[in-house]
Amino acid sequence: MKYSIVAASSLFAAIASAKNCQDLTIPVDVSARNGVFNLATPANNIDVTNFILNLSQQGANYTQEVLRKYATVSGNYNIAATYCEPDNGPSEHVQVLTHGIGFDRAYWDLPFHKGNYSYVNDAVAAGYSTFAWDRLGIAESEHGDPLSEIQALLEVDALRALTVALRAGNVEGISSGFDVVTHVGHSFGSQHTYALTAMYPDISDGITLTGFSQNGSFAGFFLIGGNFIQANTVAALADYPDGYFAAGDKSAAHTNFFAPGQFDPAILRYAFKNGQPVTVGELLTFGGETGSVNNFAGPVHIVTGERDVPYCGGNCLAPPSGLPNIPSSSATFFPNAEDFTVSIIPDAGHGLNLEYSHPTTYSSIIDYLAQHGLGPHERA
Ligand SMILES: *[C@@H]1O[C@H](CO)[C@@H](O)[C@H](O)[C@H]1NC(C)=O
Ligand SMILES: *[C@@H]1O[C@H](CO)[C@@H](O)[C@H](O)[C@H]1NC(C)=O
Ligand SMILES: *[C@@H]1O[C@H](CO)[C@@H](O)[C@H](O)[C@H]1NC(C)=O
Ligand SMILES: *[C@@H]1O[C@H](CO)[C@@H](O)[C@H](O)[C@H]1NC(C)=O
Repeated sequence: MKYSIVAASSLFAAIASAKNCQDLTIPVDVSARNGVFNLATPANNIDVTNFILNLSQQGANYTQEVLRKYATVSGNYNIAATYCEPDNGPSEHVQVLTHGIGFDRAYWDLPFHKGNYSYVNDAVAAGYSTFAWDRLGIAESEHGDPLSEIQALLEVDALRALTVALRAGNVEGISSGFDVVTHVGHSFGSQHTYALTAMYPDISDGITLTGFSQNGSFAGFFLIGGNFIQANTVAALADYPDGYFAAGDKSAAHTNFFAPGQFDPAILRYAFKNGQPVTVGELLTFGGETGSVNNFAGPVHIVTGERDVPYCGGNCLAPPSGLPNIPSSSATFFPNAEDFTVSIIPDAGHGLNLEYSHPTTYSSIIDYLAQHGLGPHERA
């Protein structure tokens, strides 16, 4: 199957960073067993807060309470993505980049301070091709029903379809396939990467889970901290239907993504102004996404900020006894991994790519891949 570009795309050379990038729209056939919930889509901000209070309640599992059954959802959806390669041609190694809640694919290549906050620039400079996509339902990817349709596992199936097409050279607009495909996620995008490789252990050659742990104790901090409101009450997000939620104010984005003293106030303004929504269906399904053992056999690297709120409660270095840090509890979930390494980025918060420590984060990701036999080898 060949995928085609259905939107205008531009091929341009970013001279300063020596990369060629192309925006693509890729139709994918996806299918997943979604939850059917006994819940009306929140219709105003009172409903949104009530929903968050229900979902974050300790000692309860609201998803379980409202889950009526599962039903298969299938469809063909347009995915927006940006593919970049070194200016001397494609690498044989592509990194598939999946962003988290509150952002879109620009998380990996922020148009802020002339590319100083660009993971893509560093990866391409190291010889990799990169493929960053907007999660299904978000930003320039096709939107859908925020309760029944845009849920975690349908997005994971989009990641599967994109990965298979990339490896085989079946994405129209990208000239070749790839011998090596690795996956780098952030936050919810790391959860998708985890779920993808738990379901299809052979689909990836290496995974990097940034802003991640499997300790669900702190999800409520994120839900309460986000001060969520209907996205369509924010001018920039007016086109979204009810059931898509956005951070309520700049302080909410600060709480969930930025650590004290670790960021430029101008990038907080940028992050809030360009914030992207999350759906009620995503919030109902993200808790169940990483509960199963993952038999992935390649190298696994977790990269989390010391002061990450959603995955460490603000302190990754206060683990349960016997562990060096909270994310290291994932070791037992990866019984077959060739290597399992956790890197804690000192002082950083959850939004790693936007903090002063981003160069440490980027080199941690790229150095690990090279050290585990996944460095790029340019095509002759
Ligand atoms: C929250 O839960 C209560 C019951 O505990 C229910 O009556 C209410 O409809 C729920 N509201 C939302 C928006 O989920
Ligand atoms: C980019 O980062 C470098 C090194 O930290 C700094 O010297 C430079 O001023 C930054 N450029 C911009 C446009 O912010
Ligand atoms: C809550 O219930 C859902 C649906 O059954 C399940 O997938 C999830 O793992 C549960 N969460 C916890 C923390 O037990
Ligand atoms: C999550 O981390 C907290 C703090 O270290 C710890 O008390 C709790 O047992 C951890 N939960 C799990 C499931 O590992």
